[in-house]
Amino acid sequence: MKTLLITGGAGFIGSNFIRHMLKEHPDCRIVNFDALTYAGNLENLREAAGNPRYSFIRGDIADAAQVDAAMSRGVDAIVNFAAESHVDRSIDDPGLFVRTNVLGTQVLLDAAKKYRVERYLQISTDEVYGALGAEGLFSEETPLAPNSPYSASKAGADLLVRAYHETYGLNIGITRCSNNYGPWHFPEKLIPLAITNALEDKEIPVYGDGLQVRDWLHVADHCRAIDLVLRRGKSGRIYNIGGNNERTNLRIVKTVLAELGKPETLIKHVKDRPGHDRRYAIDAARITGELGWKPEYTFETGLQATVKWYRENRQWWQNVKSGEYAAYYEKMYGNR
Ligand code: NAD
Ligand code: TYD
Repeated sequence: MKTLLITGGAGFIGSNFIRHMLKEHPDCRIVNFDALTYAGNLENLREAAGNPRYSFIRGDIADAAQVDAAMSRGVDAIVNFAAESHVDRSIDDPGLFVRTNVLGTQVLLDAAKKYRVERYLQISTDEVYGALGAEGLFSEETPLAPNSPYSASKAGADLLVRAYHETYGLNIGITRCSNNYGPWHFPEKLIPLAITNALEDKEIPVYGDGLQVRDWLHVADHCRAIDLVLRRGKSGRIYNIGGNNERTNLRIVKTVLAELGKPETLIKHVKDRPGHDRRYAIDAARITGELGWKPEYTFETGLQATVKWYRENRQWWQNVKSGEYAAYYEKMYGNR
């Protein structure tokens, strides 16, 4: 698998994955195919831009002609990160999520089949399993029960990926990870929003009681897991990836504030998200047992490194926050 088509490589996880692959696999070439939506930012890949093993194509995964043109460069495997990824935006505009996440995946699967790629890897989410109560973990056998338009569109995509394996024999893998955090994370998501608002002494909106639980995974640990599943995962298999770091949102925000030496008076409880999933937690025994993966970061070391990154990369996030995101923020939080 020398040439990888990485879709959505200008986003948070995709850009971290491209950096990881260029560093860890000196024989691998990367074609980054990304539509550059509000979440795609080529600044994330500035250091890769001059690398002869890296190239970029601006394109939409739901556009078959554009995908075909990229595939004809000779692609050995596809890793699909491209998606609309924010639950709150999916509540506002579900149709966009179906188009990119479901239709876009089907277009990529058709291309993978036509060009007989060696492997197709779908980057999915633990949110396809729905919500947990106080006890229990999501395993790969947990039934799909998505609650938001975002997670429903990701579940639909996963089912198509499975179907292309069963029907056409495509070599596929699906990864379902918990909430990622780390450098280059778009500040609409909880951790970078909390860090950047705190750095600007702005209030941090906490939905409802703030006692919802997420499992947090450092993006570098996630990238190592994807690399393993891509190269060594079994065809047709799903792998859950989790960080063993369950935290309530309120605890996350308080930890960020303590790390930055900012007061808890910055916390503002706001109206809850409709259909808000109460708890996610992952059983990652399969990837640990079969592929020997485990996270290297603890939440404490990962968060400290992340806070440090946001302190040192003010220009990056200030640019992101000053663009169209400023209008989004006003729309979502102005009257909440
Ligand atoms: P992101 O929103 O930061 O990046 C998404 C990227 O996809 C952007 O670069 C965007 O320009 C691109 N894109 C969007 N629509 C496109 C289209 N039609 N054609 C081509 N490119 C398009 O997302 P992320 O956080 O990096 O997430 C990457 C993947 O991982 C997604 O599939 C997401 O569902 C999944 N995931 C993310 C998390 C998380 O915590 N961030 C957790 C679980 C799963
Ligand atoms: P988010 O980062 O949007 O990821 P996801 O919804 O995919 O888990 O949200 C993480 C948690 O933080 C989720 O329970 C919603 C909550 N949250 C807030 O309390 N305030 C915010 O401003 C945001 C963006 C999220």
